[in-house]
Amino acid sequence: MVSRVIPVDPFDLVIFGATGDLSRRKILPGLFHRFTVGQLPEEARIIGAARSDFTQVAFREFVRESLIEFAAKAAKQAKLVEQFLDMLTYVCVDATGSDGWPELKDVMRGDVVRAFYLSVSPTLFGAIGASLHHHGIATPQSRIVVEKPFGHDLDSAKVLNAELRQNFDESQIYRIDHYLGKETVQNLMVLRFANSLWEPLWNATHIDHVQITVAESLGVEGRGEYYDRSGAMRDMVQNHLMQLLCLTAMEPPSKFQPSAVRDEKVKVIEALEPVDPSNVARGQYRDQRGAGSYRDHAGDPESRTESFVAMKVKIGNWRWAGTPFYLRTGKKLRGRSSEIAVVFRDPPHMIFPAMERREGNALIIRLQPDEGITLRNTIKEPGPGGMRLAEVKLDMTFADALDQQAEPQDAYERLIMDVIRGDQTLFMRGDEVEAAWAWADPIISGWEEAGQAPAGYDPGSSGPEDALMLMHRDGRRWREIN
Ligand code: BG6
Repeated sequence: MVSRVIPVDPFDLVIFGATGDLSRRKILPGLFHRFTVGQLPEEARIIGAARSDFTQVAFREFVRESLIEFAAKAAKQAKLVEQFLDMLTYVCVDATGSDGWPELKDVMRGDVVRAFYLSVSPTLFGAIGASLHHHGIATPQSRIVVEKPFGHDLDSAKVLNAELRQNFDESQIYRIDHYLGKETVQNLMVLRFANSLWEPLWNATHIDHVQITVAESLGVEGRGEYYDRSGAMRDMVQNHLMQLLCLTAMEPPSKFQPSAVRDEKVKVIEALEPVDPSNVARGQYRDQRGAGSYRDHAGDPESRTESFVAMKVKIGNWRWAGTPFYLRTGKKLRGRSSEIAVVFRDPPHMIFPAMERREGNALIIRLQPDEGITLRNTIKEPGPGGMRLAEVKLDMTFADALDQQAEPQDAYERLIMDVIRGDQTLFMRGDEVEAAWAWADPIISGWEEAGQAPAGYDPGSSGPEDALMLMHRDGRRWREIN
């Protein structure tokens, strides 16, 4: 497969928090990858802005080391690394004070796309937005990019939205949910809306239930302090799983354009029914043998924060009434695997002998690892012995099907290029984030009021017993986490 890369327009991209972790791991390596495939024009410039008193040389060295660590293969091309480093400028800026802003203004050029990536604590969004305006650095065409966590509940999300909108129009604000930048997540839309095969079956008449799993094998490790204030519900469900749910359940948009796609996603969130506490399972990993428990990582021996959550969600609209969506995510589970499994109903009348443990037709969209699609079918087992049935998989990985040698691009690469292109389709709109919090808030406050500790589960397992029961009660089973 020949990849067709169209260079984006010349730009000045300012990364606030340029010396931070996200910048080092994702933003700078992502930009470098896009540079190596020829997507950044020669006139592109990346301006690192942070509080550290770096010289230009020190910043270049910092970026070089980040590339060696997080873009190791591409960074072997020494000449390209040097060319990329030539695109960099560093400005020391005090986000909450007045230092550095005039210098930042001086380095900005007039006739290129301007984007400001706020890879900083959300508490600084308002101050940075205000300074960008006050110093005449932001223009009406500039774009501002913000990261999660976008609030920790509806009220705080409203405050952040209001702060951003004081200085930027909604059309200038790019709220990142990196799941939307994942290739397979975008493929979900293509699968649904570029094929005629699925749409007639994509409803409660034909679909028994949907399982959305984002399982991680790692624990919270060094992020314990942040995570303990958020938990799986705020960290994963309100945003990443919600996006997967929306893309699976939404109506076909009339166009692949920001407002058409985002309108349909908001409608799904608004149609979510309140979740009954009996339909939620919370867990926290507890290592009986060693010091590998969540509470050790979180640094709080009493912590009641969940590192796992599973729930049954209902969408109250014509398409989905009667088809539950089961969501599940957790840390320190048996494997790292994310997928959406669409499980179809049984044939209305079976003329063949019953099969033991028949699971039925299912379409499984694997998000990671081994991105691909599996379709589970029932066939006749070959050979004598009557009509014995077997379930087999039609299996495809995108890498094999497309003969892809190249490493898949990271979600951030796609999203940053979309910012420069001015395409908001894969970013969350303000009302969408608020709708997701409005749904999540009562679930979280219910837990807080009940004051119950989450159930324990073994690291390396599939989560707590309660999660299995959630499905068993309905006569269904979770798919294995591998
Ligand atoms: C982040 C969460 O947004 O997504 C992390 O804060 C989580 O806790 C991560 O590990 C998962 O992302 P990915 O791309 O590895 O599935």
